[in-house]
Amino acid sequence: MNSPQKILIAEDEVHIAKAIVAILKKGLPGFIIDHAKNGADAWEKAKSGTYQIIISDWNMPKKNGDELLSDLRCNENTVTTPFIMLTAKGDKDSYEAALEAGANGYVVKPFKTPEFIAKVKGVLDINGSACVIETVNDSSPIELVIDKFKQGYVKLPVLPEVVVKVSELFERGEVAIDELARVVELDAAIASQLISVANSPLVRGSSDCISVDRAITRLGLDETKSYVVALSHKGMLVSENWILKGVLEDLWWHSLAIAYCAKILARELDHQQPEKLFLFGLLHDIGKLLLVSIVDDLSKSNSCFDEPAVKGVMQKLHSDFGAVLLKEWKYNDEFQNIAQYHHVPFSSNEVSVELLIVYLANLMVSKIGFAKDEAELANVTSSQAATKLGVSNKMITSMLEEANACLLAVKQVL
Ligand SMILES: [Fe+2]
Ligand SMILES: [Fe+2]
Repeated sequence: MNSPQKILIAEDEVHIAKAIVAILKKGLPGFIIDHAKNGADAWEKAKSGTYQIIISDWNMPKKNGDELLSDLRCNENTVTTPFIMLTAKGDKDSYEAALEAGANGYVVKPFKTPEFIAKVKGVLDINGSACVIETVNDSSPIELVIDKFKQGYVKLPVLPEVVVKVSELFERGEVAIDELARVVELDAAIASQLISVANSPLVRGSSDCISVDRAITRLGLDETKSYVVALSHKGMLVSENWILKGVLEDLWWHSLAIAYCAKILARELDHQQPEKLFLFGLLHDIGKLLLVSIVDDLSKSNSCFDEPAVKGVMQKLHSDFGAVLLKEWKYNDEFQNIAQYHHVPFSSNEVSVELLIVYLANLMVSKIGFAKDEAELANVTSSQAATKLGVSNKMITSMLEEANACLLAVKQVL
């Protein structure tokens, strides 16, 4: 016999909780609705992974909704459990923070019952956990994007020629500096930016580099390859649409931050190929680039692609679309696996050290940024991924510091 489908409501205001329970019982007959009176109670009830969805208030005693969400996302049993933040916070920053933390939906109180039920059904449907529920809103931005992609009308972004040629060179084996320099010089923009990076405080040299050969000698072969990919990546991130422009700008700096963090963490953990982690980090969110090209097109004829909708599309779909794009670009399974599972590593069949490193780097940069928030730091270091890797508080703090210094140095020259 199938076990019953269950919903957990975390809400400290008893009268609000009662009202929500009544609404859900009517709107989702067949579900068992449980109530937790605060965040800590919700965590105890939910941590074994028995709920199909968790709907939580933001401000609660003992544990806030965002802390609850963070714990759930760091817990193997609940890492993918759909979560809706239910809050009086109607501002854009709170909305974005909740989505970035892994919320699948966001409802501002007071809400209208039909919209609330539609949101809960929509989140359940997207996560494939409630086939008993009919599909709602057949023209949501997410569905429009998926439809367009499935129809095959999407032109995939093309990998820049210089990246293809440099990769081919490395695949052939031994790479000579002058040979690599000739390939890089084919792209004047990349060549000049590479020289700027080699002259930045990031790589201290006694004299100015004025040629690509010298820049490669100073950076090293593998680092040169990383920077060629990074700089080409930056060149692809352009859009006329102001919303997408912001998405792409954030994507570039975020990807670079994850690339540095992943590389530094790999080095700290004595990984054999830290430079490879730089590339994994750089490309982990590349699905957003593909989504930008689809949204750009769709937004010309659909007014529903406002900023929250675009961010929602990016958040929900970028992992799957990243794996698709990397496959198209002929990056191997390791890259595809990381793009697909960097938010939910334990859902992958291949929970590699590299996947956990990128997951942790992403978690740390998204949650802590480069500020030293002790509470968040403790949350991250006690996560299952950090424990598996043996990552300490000290390691994370020094990694964030070093990555921040790298980013500042790059910002000065690019
Ligand atoms: Fe991501
Ligand atoms: Fe990310």
